[in-house]
Amino acid sequence: MAKLNFGGVEENVVTRDEFPLKKAVETLKDETVAVIGYGVQGPGQALNLKDNGFNVIVGQRKNSKTWDKAVADGWVPGETLFEVEEAAKKGTIVQYLLSDAGQIAQWETVKNQLNPGDALYFSHGFGITYKDQTGIVPPKDVDVILVAPKGSGTSLRRLFVEGKGLNSSYAIFQDATGKAYDRVVSLGIGVGSGYLFETDFQKEVYSDLTGERGILMGALAGVFEAQYEVLRKNGHSPSEAFNETVEELTQSLMPLVAENGMDWMYANCSTTAQRGALDWRHKFKKATLPVFDDLYESVKTGEEARVTIKANEKDDYRVKLEEELKELRESEIWKTGAQVRKLRPENN
Ligand SMILES: NC(=O)c1ccc[n+]([C@@H]2O[C@H](COP(=O)([O-])OP(=O)(O)OC[C@H]3O[C@@H](n4cnc5c(N)ncnc54)[C@H](OP(=O)(O)O)[C@@H]3O)[C@@H](O)[C@H]2O)c1
Repeated sequence: MAKLNFGGVEENVVTRDEFPLKKAVETLKDETVAVIGYGVQGPGQALNLKDNGFNVIVGQRKNSKTWDKAVADGWVPGETLFEVEEAAKKGTIVQYLLSDAGQIAQWETVKNQLNPGDALYFSHGFGITYKDQTGIVPPKDVDVILVAPKGSGTSLRRLFVEGKGLNSSYAIFQDATGKAYDRVVSLGIGVGSGYLFETDFQKEVYSDLTGERGILMGALAGVFEAQYEVLRKNGHSPSEAFNETVEELTQSLMPLVAENGMDWMYANCSTTAQRGALDWRHKFKKATLPVFDDLYESVKTGEEARVTIKANEKDDYRVKLEEELKELRESEIWKTGAQVRKLRPENN
Protein backbone atom coordinates (compact mmCIF):
# COMPACT_ATOMS: atom_id res chain seq x y z
CA MET A 1 0.00 0.00 0.00
CA ALA A 2 1.30 3.47 -0.83
CA LYS A 3 0.34 6.83 0.59
CA LEU A 4 -0.37 9.28 -2.21
CA ASN A 5 -1.31 12.92 -2.04
CA PHE A 6 -4.67 13.91 -3.56
CA GLY A 7 -5.25 17.65 -3.58
CA GLY A 8 -3.22 18.02 -0.38
CA VAL A 9 -4.84 15.04 1.40
CA GLU A 10 -3.00 11.74 1.93
CA GLU A 11 -4.75 8.49 1.02
CA ASN A 12 -3.91 4.79 1.05
CA VAL A 13 -3.86 3.48 -2.52
CA VAL A 14 -2.67 0.33 -4.25
CA THR A 15 -1.31 0.28 -7.79
CA ARG A 16 -0.10 -2.51 -10.02
CA ASP A 17 3.49 -1.36 -9.49
CA GLU A 18 3.50 -2.44 -5.87
CA PHE A 19 0.99 -5.29 -6.23
CA PRO A 20 1.52 -6.75 -9.71
CA LEU A 21 -0.94 -9.14 -11.32
CA LYS A 22 1.56 -11.98 -10.94
CA LYS A 23 1.56 -11.54 -7.17
CA ALA A 24 -2.26 -11.42 -7.15
CA VAL A 25 -2.53 -14.70 -9.11
CA GLU A 26 0.06 -16.31 -6.83
CA THR A 27 -1.80 -15.13 -3.70
CA LEU A 28 -5.08 -16.74 -4.84
CA LYS A 29 -3.64 -19.80 -6.60
CA ASP A 30 -5.32 -22.24 -4.20
CA GLU A 31 -8.65 -20.42 -4.11
CA THR A 32 -11.81 -20.86 -6.15
CA VAL A 33 -13.54 -17.58 -6.90
CA ALA A 34 -17.29 -18.10 -7.27
CA VAL A 35 -18.89 -15.13 -9.02
CA ILE A 36 -22.56 -15.27 -8.01
CA GLY A 37 -24.76 -13.38 -10.47
CA TYR A 38 -24.18 -12.71 -14.14
CA GLY A 39 -25.98 -9.40 -14.61
CA VAL A 40 -23.77 -6.38 -15.33
CA GLN A 41 -20.84 -6.62 -12.87
CA GLY A 42 -20.81 -10.42 -12.89
CA PRO A 43 -19.65 -10.87 -16.51
CA GLY A 44 -17.12 -8.02 -16.35
CA GLN A 45 -15.46 -9.28 -13.18
CA ALA A 46 -15.70 -13.02 -13.93
CA LEU A 47 -14.29 -12.75 -17.46
CA ASN A 48 -11.48 -10.39 -16.43
CA LEU A 49 -10.48 -12.66 -13.54
CA LYS A 50 -10.56 -15.73 -15.81
CA ASP A 51 -8.49 -14.02 -18.52
CA ASN A 52 -6.03 -12.89 -15.83
CA GLY A 53 -5.42 -16.50 -14.79
CA PHE A 54 -7.54 -16.97 -11.64
CA ASN A 55 -9.70 -20.06 -10.91
CA VAL A 56 -13.21 -18.79 -11.52
CA ILE A 57 -16.66 -20.35 -11.56
CA VAL A 58 -20.02 -18.65 -12.05
CA GLY A 59 -23.22 -19.11 -10.04
CA GLN A 60 -26.46 -18.19 -11.80
CA ARG A 61 -30.05 -19.41 -11.53
CA LYS A 62 -31.11 -21.69 -14.38
CA ASN A 63 -34.10 -21.16 -16.64
CA SER A 64 -33.08 -17.57 -17.13
CA LYS A 65 -31.78 -15.69 -20.15
CA THR A 66 -28.83 -14.76 -17.97
CA TRP A 67 -27.84 -18.43 -17.71
CA ASP A 68 -27.85 -18.60 -21.52
CA LYS A 69 -25.69 -15.46 -21.65
CA ALA A 70 -23.15 -17.12 -19.34
CA VAL A 71 -23.07 -20.20 -21.58
CA ALA A 72 -22.64 -17.98 -24.65
CA ASP A 73 -19.67 -16.31 -22.90
CA GLY A 74 -17.95 -19.69 -22.59
CA TRP A 75 -18.89 -20.84 -19.05
CA VAL A 76 -19.54 -24.58 -19.11
CA PRO A 77 -22.51 -26.01 -17.14
CA GLY A 78 -21.31 -28.50 -14.52
CA GLU A 79 -17.68 -27.41 -14.95
CA THR A 80 -17.49 -23.65 -14.52
CA LEU A 81 -21.20 -22.71 -14.39
CA PHE A 82 -23.54 -23.81 -11.57
CA GLU A 83 -26.72 -22.88 -9.76
CA VAL A 84 -26.18 -20.18 -7.09
CA GLU A 85 -26.16 -22.60 -4.17
CA GLU A 86 -23.71 -25.04 -5.71
CA ALA A 87 -21.31 -22.32 -6.85
CA ALA A 88 -21.36 -20.74 -3.38
CA LYS A 89 -20.57 -24.15 -1.91
CA LYS A 90 -17.60 -24.70 -4.25
CA GLY A 91 -16.15 -21.20 -3.83
CA THR A 92 -13.60 -20.25 -1.18
CA ILE A 93 -14.19 -16.66 -2.24
CA VAL A 94 -17.85 -15.87 -2.89
CA GLN A 95 -18.30 -12.74 -4.99
CA TYR A 96 -21.87 -11.73 -4.21
CA LEU A 97 -22.85 -9.92 -7.40
CA LEU A 98 -26.59 -10.45 -7.55
CA SER A 99 -28.64 -7.27 -7.79
CA ASP A 100 -28.94 -5.67 -4.34
CA ALA A 101 -32.55 -6.95 -4.13
CA GLY A 102 -31.44 -10.43 -5.30
CA GLN A 103 -28.81 -10.46 -2.54
CA ILE A 104 -31.55 -10.04 0.07
CA ALA A 105 -33.66 -12.80 -1.52
CA GLN A 106 -30.79 -15.31 -1.78
CA TRP A 107 -28.99 -14.50 1.47
CA GLU A 108 -30.07 -17.55 3.53
CA THR A 109 -29.06 -19.88 0.67
CA VAL A 110 -25.64 -18.30 0.23
CA LYS A 111 -24.97 -17.86 3.96
CA ASN A 112 -25.55 -21.59 4.50
CA GLN A 113 -22.80 -22.42 2.00
CA LEU A 114 -20.11 -20.27 3.62
CA ASN A 115 -17.39 -22.27 5.37
CA PRO A 116 -15.06 -20.94 8.08
CA GLY A 117 -12.17 -19.15 6.40
CA ASP A 118 -14.07 -18.33 3.20
CA ALA A 119 -14.24 -14.76 1.95
CA LEU A 120 -17.52 -13.03 1.16
CA TYR A 121 -16.99 -10.26 -1.40
CA PHE A 122 -19.28 -7.42 -2.40
CA SER A 123 -19.07 -4.65 -4.99
CA HIS A 124 -21.36 -2.39 -2.98
CA GLY A 125 -21.65 -1.58 0.72
CA PHE A 126 -25.46 -1.68 0.53
CA GLY A 127 -26.25 -5.14 1.96
CA ILE A 128 -23.90 -4.85 4.94
CA THR A 129 -24.45 -1.17 5.80
CA TYR A 130 -28.23 -1.35 5.73
CA LYS A 131 -28.29 -4.73 7.49
CA ASP A 132 -31.36 -3.77 9.53
CA GLN A 133 -33.26 -3.60 6.25
CA THR A 134 -31.47 -6.32 4.24
CA GLY A 135 -30.89 -8.94 6.95
CA ILE A 136 -27.38 -9.57 5.57
CA VAL A 137 -25.23 -10.35 8.62
CA PRO A 138 -22.27 -12.59 7.73
CA PRO A 139 -20.95 -15.26 10.08
CA LYS A 140 -17.99 -14.10 12.19
CA ASP A 141 -15.57 -16.71 10.80
CA VAL A 142 -15.44 -15.43 7.20
CA ASP A 143 -13.60 -12.47 5.69
CA VAL A 144 -15.94 -9.75 4.41
CA ILE A 145 -14.36 -7.60 1.72
CA LEU A 146 -15.33 -5.19 -1.03
CA VAL A 147 -14.04 -4.05 -4.41
CA ALA A 148 -16.31 -1.51 -6.07
CA PRO A 149 -15.33 -0.59 -9.62
CA LYS A 150 -16.27 3.02 -10.32
CA GLY A 151 -18.28 2.31 -13.42
CA SER A 152 -20.45 -0.20 -15.21
CA GLY A 153 -19.43 -3.84 -15.53
CA THR A 154 -19.68 -3.31 -19.27
CA SER A 155 -17.02 -0.59 -19.14
CA LEU A 156 -14.89 -2.74 -16.82
CA ARG A 157 -14.78 -5.46 -19.46
CA ARG A 158 -14.44 -3.10 -22.42
CA LEU A 159 -11.53 -1.20 -20.88
CA PHE A 160 -9.83 -4.47 -19.85
CA VAL A 161 -10.00 -5.74 -23.43
CA GLU A 162 -8.48 -2.41 -24.56
CA GLY A 163 -5.66 -2.83 -22.02
CA LYS A 164 -7.02 -0.07 -19.73
CA GLY A 165 -8.83 -0.19 -16.37
CA LEU A 166 -11.46 1.42 -14.14
CA ASN A 167 -10.42 2.70 -10.73
CA SER A 168 -12.02 0.83 -7.82
CA SER A 169 -12.43 1.35 -4.10
CA TYR A 170 -11.62 -1.47 -1.69
CA ALA A 171 -12.65 -2.15 1.89
CA ILE A 172 -12.37 -4.75 4.64
CA PHE A 173 -15.38 -5.13 6.93
CA GLN A 174 -14.23 -8.28 8.68
CA ASP A 175 -10.79 -9.91 8.71
CA ALA A 176 -11.41 -13.36 10.15
CA THR A 177 -8.41 -15.09 8.57
CA GLY A 178 -5.73 -12.40 8.64
CA LYS A 179 -5.64 -12.74 4.83
CA ALA A 180 -8.40 -10.24 4.03
CA TYR A 181 -6.05 -7.52 2.78
CA ASP A 182 -4.12 -9.78 0.40
CA ARG A 183 -7.37 -11.31 -0.81
CA VAL A 184 -9.14 -8.03 -1.46
CA VAL A 185 -6.20 -6.38 -3.21
CA SER A 186 -5.54 -9.49 -5.35
CA LEU A 187 -9.18 -9.48 -6.43
CA GLY A 188 -9.12 -5.74 -7.08
CA ILE A 189 -6.12 -6.11 -9.35
CA GLY A 190 -7.58 -9.30 -10.85
CA VAL A 191 -10.91 -7.76 -11.90
CA GLY A 192 -9.00 -5.19 -13.91
CA SER A 193 -8.89 -2.10 -11.71
CA GLY A 194 -6.73 0.90 -12.52
CA TYR A 195 -5.70 1.99 -9.01
CA LEU A 196 -7.43 0.91 -5.80
CA PHE A 197 -8.35 3.46 -3.13
CA GLU A 198 -9.26 2.58 0.43
CA THR A 199 -12.75 3.08 1.85
CA ASP A 200 -15.13 1.33 4.25
CA PHE A 201 -18.50 -0.28 3.49
CA GLN A 202 -20.51 2.64 4.86
CA LYS A 203 -18.55 5.34 3.02
CA GLU A 204 -18.74 3.30 -0.18
CA VAL A 205 -22.51 3.09 -0.11
CA TYR A 206 -23.06 6.67 1.08
CA SER A 207 -20.85 8.08 -1.70
CA ASP A 208 -22.23 5.72 -4.33
CA LEU A 209 -25.90 6.46 -3.62
CA THR A 210 -25.15 10.19 -3.42
CA GLY A 211 -23.21 10.08 -6.69
CA GLU A 212 -25.80 8.22 -8.73
CA ARG A 213 -28.74 10.19 -7.36
CA GLY A 214 -26.65 13.34 -7.73
CA ILE A 215 -24.25 14.41 -10.40
CA LEU A 216 -23.84 11.11 -12.25
CA MET A 217 -27.51 10.58 -13.06
CA GLY A 218 -30.25 12.38 -11.11
CA ALA A 219 -28.82 15.88 -10.98
CA LEU A 220 -27.45 15.59 -14.50
CA ALA A 221 -30.81 14.67 -16.00
CA GLY A 222 -32.49 17.38 -13.90
CA VAL A 223 -30.20 20.23 -14.96
CA PHE A 224 -30.30 19.09 -18.60
CA GLU A 225 -34.09 19.27 -18.51
CA ALA A 226 -34.13 22.65 -16.78
CA GLN A 227 -31.78 24.31 -19.29
CA TYR A 228 -33.50 22.66 -22.27
CA GLU A 229 -36.88 23.88 -21.03
CA VAL A 230 -35.66 27.47 -20.61
CA LEU A 231 -34.21 27.50 -24.12
CA ARG A 232 -37.35 25.97 -25.63
CA LYS A 233 -39.76 28.34 -23.90
CA ASN A 234 -37.69 31.24 -25.20
CA GLY A 235 -38.20 30.12 -28.78
CA HIS A 236 -35.08 28.05 -29.50
CA SER A 237 -35.49 24.98 -31.72
CA PRO A 238 -35.13 21.47 -30.27
CA SER A 239 -31.92 21.07 -32.25
CA GLU A 240 -30.42 24.25 -30.84
CA ALA A 241 -31.56 23.52 -27.27
CA PHE A 242 -30.25 19.94 -27.36
CA ASN A 243 -26.90 20.75 -28.94
CA GLU A 244 -26.34 23.59 -26.46
CA THR A 245 -27.33 21.41 -23.49
CA VAL A 246 -26.23 17.83 -24.11
CA GLU A 247 -24.40 17.19 -27.36
CA GLU A 248 -21.68 19.78 -26.89
CA LEU A 249 -21.11 18.56 -23.34
CA THR A 250 -20.79 14.86 -24.16
CA GLN A 251 -19.03 15.17 -27.50
CA SER A 252 -16.75 18.12 -26.99
CA LEU A 253 -16.28 19.32 -23.43
CA MET A 254 -16.35 16.26 -21.16
CA PRO A 255 -13.67 14.42 -23.14
CA LEU A 256 -11.45 17.49 -22.62
CA VAL A 257 -12.19 17.47 -18.88
CA ALA A 258 -11.44 13.73 -18.77
CA GLU A 259 -8.09 14.28 -20.44
CA ASN A 260 -6.82 17.43 -18.76
CA GLY A 261 -9.19 18.71 -16.08
CA MET A 262 -11.81 21.43 -15.73
CA ASP A 263 -9.29 24.29 -15.57
CA TRP A 264 -7.76 23.21 -18.87
CA MET A 265 -11.17 23.00 -20.52
CA TYR A 266 -11.98 26.50 -19.22
CA ALA A 267 -8.59 27.76 -20.41
CA ASN A 268 -9.32 26.46 -23.91
CA CYS A 269 -12.75 28.06 -24.31
CA SER A 270 -13.54 31.52 -25.64
CA THR A 271 -12.98 34.42 -23.25
CA THR A 272 -16.74 35.07 -23.34
CA ALA A 273 -17.46 31.49 -22.23
CA GLN A 274 -14.76 31.67 -19.56
CA ARG A 275 -16.00 34.89 -17.99
CA GLY A 276 -19.61 33.75 -17.83
CA ALA A 277 -18.83 30.24 -16.59
CA LEU A 278 -16.48 31.51 -13.87
CA ASP A 279 -19.21 33.85 -12.59
CA TRP A 280 -22.21 31.50 -12.87
CA ARG A 281 -20.38 28.53 -11.37
CA HIS A 282 -20.78 30.05 -7.88
CA LYS A 283 -24.49 30.72 -8.36
CA PHE A 284 -25.15 27.11 -9.41
CA LYS A 285 -23.15 25.79 -6.49
CA LYS A 286 -25.14 27.92 -4.05
CA ALA A 287 -28.44 26.82 -5.57
CA THR A 288 -27.65 23.10 -5.52
CA LEU A 289 -25.68 22.76 -2.28
CA PRO A 290 -28.83 22.48 -0.10
CA VAL A 291 -30.22 19.82 -2.45
CA PHE A 292 -27.01 17.77 -2.15
CA ASP A 293 -27.14 18.18 1.65
CA ASP A 294 -30.74 16.85 1.63
CA LEU A 295 -29.71 13.97 -0.59
CA TYR A 296 -26.79 12.97 1.65
CA GLU A 297 -29.05 13.08 4.70
CA SER A 298 -31.59 10.86 2.98
CA VAL A 299 -28.81 8.35 2.18
CA LYS A 300 -27.43 8.50 5.72
CA THR A 301 -30.74 7.93 7.48
CA GLY A 302 -31.41 4.86 5.33
CA GLU A 303 -34.41 6.46 3.62
CA GLU A 304 -32.94 5.92 0.14
CA ALA A 305 -32.33 2.25 0.97
CA ARG A 306 -35.88 1.88 2.28
CA VAL A 307 -37.41 3.39 -0.87
CA THR A 308 -35.19 1.23 -3.12
CA ILE A 309 -35.89 -2.04 -1.29
CA LYS A 310 -39.65 -1.33 -1.17
CA ALA A 311 -39.78 -0.55 -4.90
CA ASN A 312 -37.74 -3.64 -5.81
CA GLU A 313 -39.96 -5.93 -3.75
CA LYS A 314 -43.05 -5.12 -5.83
CA ASP A 315 -44.02 -7.74 -8.40
CA ASP A 316 -44.69 -5.09 -11.04
CA TYR A 317 -41.30 -3.37 -10.47
CA ARG A 318 -40.03 -4.05 -14.00
CA VAL A 319 -43.31 -2.96 -15.62
CA LYS A 320 -43.37 0.30 -13.65
CA LEU A 321 -39.68 0.90 -14.40
CA GLU A 322 -40.29 0.44 -18.10
CA GLU A 323 -43.17 2.99 -17.93
CA GLU A 324 -40.87 5.55 -16.29
CA LEU A 325 -38.07 4.94 -18.77
CA LYS A 326 -40.57 5.24 -21.62
CA GLU A 327 -41.67 8.62 -20.30
CA LEU A 328 -38.00 9.73 -20.26
CA ARG A 329 -37.31 8.27 -23.72
CA GLU A 330 -40.39 9.93 -25.19
CA SER A 331 -39.83 13.36 -23.68
CA GLU A 332 -38.94 15.95 -26.30
CA ILE A 333 -35.35 16.40 -25.14
CA TRP A 334 -34.43 12.71 -25.45
CA LYS A 335 -36.41 12.16 -28.66
CA THR A 336 -34.38 15.06 -30.02
CA GLY A 337 -31.27 13.34 -28.70
CA ALA A 338 -32.05 10.17 -30.66
CA GLN A 339 -32.41 12.22 -33.82
CA VAL A 340 -29.19 14.17 -33.15
CA ARG A 341 -27.24 10.93 -32.59
CA LYS A 342 -28.47 9.57 -35.92
CA LEU A 343 -27.11 12.68 -37.61
CA ARG A 344 -23.59 12.32 -36.19
CA PRO A 345 -21.14 11.98 -39.10
CA GLU A 346 -20.04 8.51 -37.96
CA ASN A 347 -23.64 7.30 -38.24
CA ASN A 348 -24.20 8.63 -41.70
N1 LIG B 1 -24.21 -2.26 -12.55
C1 LIG B 1 -22.93 -2.00 -12.35
O1 LIG B 1 -22.17 -1.87 -13.28
C2 LIG B 1 -22.37 -1.89 -10.95
C3 LIG B 1 -21.28 -1.05 -10.71
C4 LIG B 1 -20.64 -1.10 -9.46
C5 LIG B 1 -21.16 -1.94 -8.47
N2 LIG B 1 -22.26 -2.71 -8.73
C6 LIG B 1 -22.76 -3.61 -7.69
O2 LIG B 1 -22.55 -4.95 -8.13
C7 LIG B 1 -23.59 -5.79 -7.67
C8 LIG B 1 -24.26 -6.44 -8.87
O3 LIG B 1 -24.89 -5.40 -9.61
P1 LIG B 1 -25.38 -5.61 -11.10
O4 LIG B 1 -25.77 -4.26 -11.60
O5 LIG B 1 -24.42 -6.43 -11.84
O6 LIG B 1 -26.71 -6.42 -10.82
P2 LIG B 1 -27.78 -6.88 -11.86
O7 LIG B 1 -27.31 -6.75 -13.24
O8 LIG B 1 -29.08 -6.27 -11.51
O9 LIG B 1 -27.74 -8.43 -11.41
C9 LIG B 1 -28.63 -9.24 -11.82
C10 LIG B 1 -28.17 -10.63 -11.35
O10 LIG B 1 -28.85 -10.94 -10.14
C11 LIG B 1 -29.65 -12.10 -10.40
N3 LIG B 1 -30.84 -12.04 -9.55
C12 LIG B 1 -31.63 -10.96 -9.32
N4 LIG B 1 -32.62 -11.29 -8.45
C13 LIG B 1 -32.40 -12.60 -8.12
C14 LIG B 1 -33.07 -13.51 -7.26
N5 LIG B 1 -34.12 -13.14 -6.54
N6 LIG B 1 -32.58 -14.76 -7.18
C15 LIG B 1 -31.48 -15.16 -7.89
N7 LIG B 1 -30.81 -14.33 -8.72
C16 LIG B 1 -31.28 -13.07 -8.83
C17 LIG B 1 -29.93 -12.03 -11.89
O11 LIG B 1 -30.37 -13.24 -12.39
P3 LIG B 1 -31.59 -13.24 -13.48
O12 LIG B 1 -31.07 -12.55 -14.68
O13 LIG B 1 -31.88 -14.66 -13.64
O14 LIG B 1 -32.70 -12.43 -12.84
C18 LIG B 1 -28.55 -11.63 -12.40
O15 LIG B 1 -27.66 -12.70 -12.36
C19 LIG B 1 -24.53 -4.91 -6.86
O16 LIG B 1 -24.16 -4.95 -5.51
C20 LIG B 1 -24.26 -3.52 -7.43
O17 LIG B 1 -24.58 -2.49 -6.54
C21 LIG B 1 -22.87 -2.70 -9.94
